[in-house]
Amino acid sequence: QNVFQGRSVLAEKDFTAEELEYLIDFGLHLKDLKKNNIPHKYLEGKNIALLFEKSSTRTRAAFVTASHDLGAHPDFLGPSDIHLGKKETTSDTGKVLGSMFDGIEFRGFKQSDAEILARDSGVPVWNGLTDEWHPTQMLADFMTVKENFGHLKGLTLTFMGDGRNNVANSLLVTGAILGVNIHIVSPKHLFPHDDIQKYANDFAKKSGAKLLITDDIAEGMKGSNIVYTDVWVSMGEDNWSERIKELKPYQVNMAAMKATGTPDDQLIFMHCLPAFHNADTKVGEDTKEKYGLSEMEVTDEVFNSKYARQFEEAENRMHSIKAMMAATLGNLFIPRV
Ligand code: CP
Ligand code: NVA
Repeated sequence: QNVFQGRSVLAEKDFTAEELEYLIDFGLHLKDLKKNNIPHKYLEGKNIALLFEKSSTRTRAAFVTASHDLGAHPDFLGPSDIHLGKKETTSDTGKVLGSMFDGIEFRGFKQSDAEILARDSGVPVWNGLTDEWHPTQMLADFMTVKENFGHLKGLTLTFMGDGRNNVANSLLVTGAILGVNIHIVSPKHLFPHDDIQKYANDFAKKSGAKLLITDDIAEGMKGSNIVYTDVWVSMGEDNWSERIKELKPYQVNMAAMKATGTPDDQLIFMHCLPAFHNADTKVGEDTKEKYGLSEMEVTDEVFNSKYARQFEEAENRMHSIKAMMAATLGNLFIPRV
């Protein structure tokens, strides 16, 4: 019995450790097929809608290329292309798209919109990022971790930065489900919200993951295998000056990497990207001069160091999204899980 068939992927908390590990392993398998030019057209003839309220490089590219490799037809529906949220309800949009498409990717602001689409479209909806969660990122991230370390359980991942953004929420809860110890290091007022902490603590009790939320960099870094960061200002926010002031001490630099005390062969750096790591990255139309800072959440030195895995991680978005789409829409025989 395929426990994934017809299911939406809206948030990690809806999946068991076994299910998430299955998708991660399936992603690794599909990566192998791709590298060896072995076809894997599990979604021949399916139509896939790609709904984007916010911009995207990786998620869009991953869904498009994954769809093509699986034999499906993706169609990009951007914010100015369709009526989403304007002129008609999200529910009505969902009903219409569901009558024509076999699966829907949604990237937007509100998690509730992803839920409405899943409820009313009648087809699997895949959350390509909301203000709350980024589940397809997690599949790629933990796939990357498994690729590097050979296992997941017992490793320690430290996220340093905006501790209440979508990526931090997702890392905390997914790590807790999978038995990966998660440290969140941020100023106190950016600690994850209580409901997110509650989900994570409940899962951690079951998996044995150790969770730590702290504003103390030395304490948070100690013993980490994976140092992870993300932009200081997420899509939909615009509080640059404030965030730069608050988060400057929480930059991932070589001193932070060294503070892990972890041997080099057991330590990696990850970033979901896009990243502000040098003067070439713009803050909207303003460059860093306005803020007097050219490197933000990560220094160029760390970004280009031997620890860096962010581009493997980005590539893995495609392989893992492929696994998720094939599992939920491919009528595959999946006996395990
Ligand atoms: N990591 C990620 O979701 O990147 P995009 O915003 O480019 O899709
Ligand atoms: N936290 C970031 C993630 C981008 C992939 C954002 O929401 O903008």
